Amino acid sequence: MSKVIAVLGAGLGVSVARRFGREGFRVALVARRKDRLDTLVEVLAGEGIEAVAFSADLSKPAEVPALVEAIRDRFGRIDVVAYGPIGGDQGFTPAAELDASTLEALTPLLLLTPVEVVRAVLPEWTERGEGTFLLAQGYSAAQPMPHLSGLGPVMAATRNYLYSLNAELADTGIYAGALTIASLIARSEVSAAAQAAFESADGPHFPIADPDDLAEHYWDMYTKRDRVEQFHPESLTPRAPA
Ligand SMILES: NC(=O)c1ccc[n+]([C@@H]2O[C@H](COP(=O)([O-])OP(=O)(O)OC[C@H]3O[C@@H](n4cnc5c(N)ncnc54)[C@H](OP(=O)(O)O)[C@@H]3O)[C@@H](O)[C@H]2O)c1
Repeated sequence: MSKVIAVLGAGLGVSVARRFGREGFRVALVARRKDRLDTLVEVLAGEGIEAVAFSADLSKPAEVPALVEAIRDRFGRIDVVAYGPIGGDQGFTPAAELDASTLEALTPLLLLTPVEVVRAVLPEWTERGEGTFLLAQGYSAAQPMPHLSGLGPVMAATRNYLYSLNAELADTGIYAGALTIASLIARSEVSAAAQAAFESADGPHFPIADPDDLAEHYWDMYTKRDRVEQFHPESLTPRAPA
C-alpha cells in the first residue's frame, strides 16, 4: 500500500503535496474552503497524484481526532503530516500592543491543533516504528524582532514543543522537524499582509522563497531525518539556535 501524506494547510502545502506525490505518496489535502481544495485535487490528479480534499477548520483542536480518523478511513494509513495553515487574521502585533485575547486567538491554530494532530497519529506511528511530522513556521518563532510579535510567541511555544518531541522520539523511528521560513513565500495568500507588516514596522526585508524550494527542504528532511530545524534561507540560521 503506497504511503500517505496529510497536508494541513493548502498554500505551501500544495507544493509539498506535489513533491511527495511525485515520490508515490497519496495526499490528504486539508483546509477550510472546499471549492478551492476540489480545484487543487483536480490539478494534482492531472499530474498523476492521487489526492483527496478534507474540509476542516484547524483552529478547532477538539475536531482533530475526527479529521485524522476520516483521513485514515479513506487511505488506511498516515505516514507523514505536514502542518502549515495560516490565515489572514493571524498577523503580527507590536509587543507593546499585544494582549491576552490576541494571543488566545492565535493559539488554537498555531499551538493546540498541531499538538493534537501529533497525539492523534502517534499510536499508529509507534506501532509501525515510523512516521514524520513536519512543521512550517515563521522566522519570528526563532528570532524575535521589534514590532513583529504576536505570531512569534505562539510559534515559539510550538517550536519549543517540537524540539522536545524530536528528542523524545529520536530512537523510535519517528521524526519531527521544523522548517523555519525567513522569507515571504511566492504565490502565498498571506505574503502581502506579512510584507505590509514588515514595511510598516520598518522591519527586515526578507527574500521571496519559491514554495517548490521549501517543499524540497521537506523532502530532504523526510529522507535524511538529520536535523530538528531547517532555516530558509540557510544564511539566516541564528548563530546559536536553541
Ligand atoms: N506566506 C509567507 O510569506 C510565510 C512566511 C514565513 C512563514 N510562513 C509559514 O509558512 C506556512 C505556510 O504559509 P502559506 O504561505 O502556505 O500560506 P497561504 O498560502 O496563505 O496558505 C495557508 C493555508 O492555510 C489554510 N488555513 C488557514 N486557516 C485555516 C484553518 N483555520 N483551518 C484550516 N486551514 C486553514 C488556508 O486555506 P483556507 O483559508 O481555505 O482554510 C490555506 O490553504 C505557515 O506555517 C506560515 O506561518 C509563511
